[in-house]
Amino acid sequence: MRQSSLVVVANRLPLDDSAAPDGACEWRRSPGGLAGALHAILQQTPATWVGWDGTVGEARTLPDVGTLRLRPVALDEDETRGYYEGFANSTLWPLYHDAVEPPVFDRGWWETYRAVNRRFAEAAAEVAEPGATVWVQDYHLQLVPQLLRKLRPDLLIGFFLHVPFPPPELFMQLPRRVELLRGMLGADLVGFQRPQAAHNVAQLASKLLGAEGADDAIALEDRVVRTGAFPVSIDVAEMRSLSARPYVINQAKKLRHDLGSPKKVLLSVDRLDYTKGIEHRLTAYSELLRDGRVKVRDTVMVQVAVPSRERVETYRGLRDRIEREVGRINGEYGRVGEPAIHYLNQPFDRADLAALYQTADVMVVTPLRDGMNLVAKEFVAARRDDSGALVLSEFAGAAAELEDAFQVNPHDVDGLKETLLHAMSAAPADLARRMAAMRHYLTVHDIHAWAQDYLTTLSFSSQSRTASIGS
Ligand code: ADP
Ligand code: F6P
Repeated sequence: MRQSSLVVVANRLPLDDSAAPDGACEWRRSPGGLAGALHAILQQTPATWVGWDGTVGEARTLPDVGTLRLRPVALDEDETRGYYEGFANSTLWPLYHDAVEPPVFDRGWWETYRAVNRRFAEAAAEVAEPGATVWVQDYHLQLVPQLLRKLRPDLLIGFFLHVPFPPPELFMQLPRRVELLRGMLGADLVGFQRPQAAHNVAQLASKLLGAEGADDAIALEDRVVRTGAFPVSIDVAEMRSLSARPYVINQAKKLRHDLGSPKKVLLSVDRLDYTKGIEHRLTAYSELLRDGRVKVRDTVMVQVAVPSRERVETYRGLRDRIEREVGRINGEYGRVGEPAIHYLNQPFDRADLAALYQTADVMVVTPLRDGMNLVAKEFVAARRDDSGALVLSEFAGAAAELEDAFQVNPHDVDGLKETLLHAMSAAPADLARRMAAMRHYLTVHDIHAWAQDYLTTLSFSSQSRTASIGS
């Protein structure tokens, strides 16, 4: 087995297979923020990515992607249910997102979660060269840092959580809270999207482990774990160059024409997930139509909702409810050839997404809770001029950075309606000022800056393995 000096460990590999038109297997980038973000920085870096290819059964041999080697981890049917759909996505995911859906505590899932985390740790230990840096990603693999440290004490281990870390009173609900906290703190550096998360972990470390905790470091019995906020970003240059392609520019014009050349196009692009606030958004839009404050002839809403975690009951239920509601709204307010909402439940390639972003007048990103939300950043990067408004939930990590968006509390449906109308009628000069400020921010804070900041801090963290807090 060839070894690497940099190993990324994430639940999912950056590629999904899909059937090509001729029935052959075709690889494409998997949807979701994590895969996109890391894929962007690893394309030209010699590294190995340890992850699952999204299928059930034997691991397949996968081709290298440029300089990136892929080391698949296989999951069988029981593991997919207990680890991925169960503990990761029915316990941790809802709990970490403010319990907007009730988390499920199923005692059978824990052992599977631990066993699969061990398999990922063993795979990482196998492909990491002596003294290598191993960067573990997200809530699926929260036990890996500690397991890996036991297997390979020579490694420099980073952990980054892409989703929010909950307030202590929510985390305390977890039956295996001590193991989960210890698992994550097996890393040399634990990174989060927001400083509040590091604060929450420090409080929990003191309460549950008796550790001395500050917002940037936690002293365990034998070592110091550094913590901090590193807001993830996007490949701004890639999105800009994509957006300048003639295909994308023409496609954006064509889309607008196909939508009936309305005065305003509202766009939302989400994984079909209950954290994304799609139902609240539909309620707000439907009430604006009902009250005659928005007219179908003038305004069109496009909702892209890519299917996600479809074997999990809450996701199936959500999809049914959304499809019923879109049908109701179109039935009630649409006209022949003029639906009120264009609902697209399908994946798009990057160029077509860029064209959609260019077509929109108002991008509506209103999650109830989101670690970051890269769609909001992609929209800003895809704009070729200073037009376009971003309506952004206060509960997305991105809100702390994109301060010039039209910020909104998505739980407040009346407030959401007013903010949509405000964004739709904003003066061009106001839009231009906001867009220029957001674009400037993203130019500096792109995905490369994120990776460099994290990995540099991680390399310094190794010196603190035996040091004390504050040194
Ligand atoms: P999450 O990580 O929760 O899915 P983000 O907004 O951070 O949310 O990231 C979503 C990523 O998935 C973005 O990079 C976006 O471009 C991509 N994406 C969303 N919808 C689609 C779609 N229909 N087709 C392809 N990619 C999509
Ligand atoms: O960013 C949150 C996240 O869970 C990522 O870890 C993941 O890549 C993405 O959402 C998509 O989810 P899934 O891998 O379950 O399809």
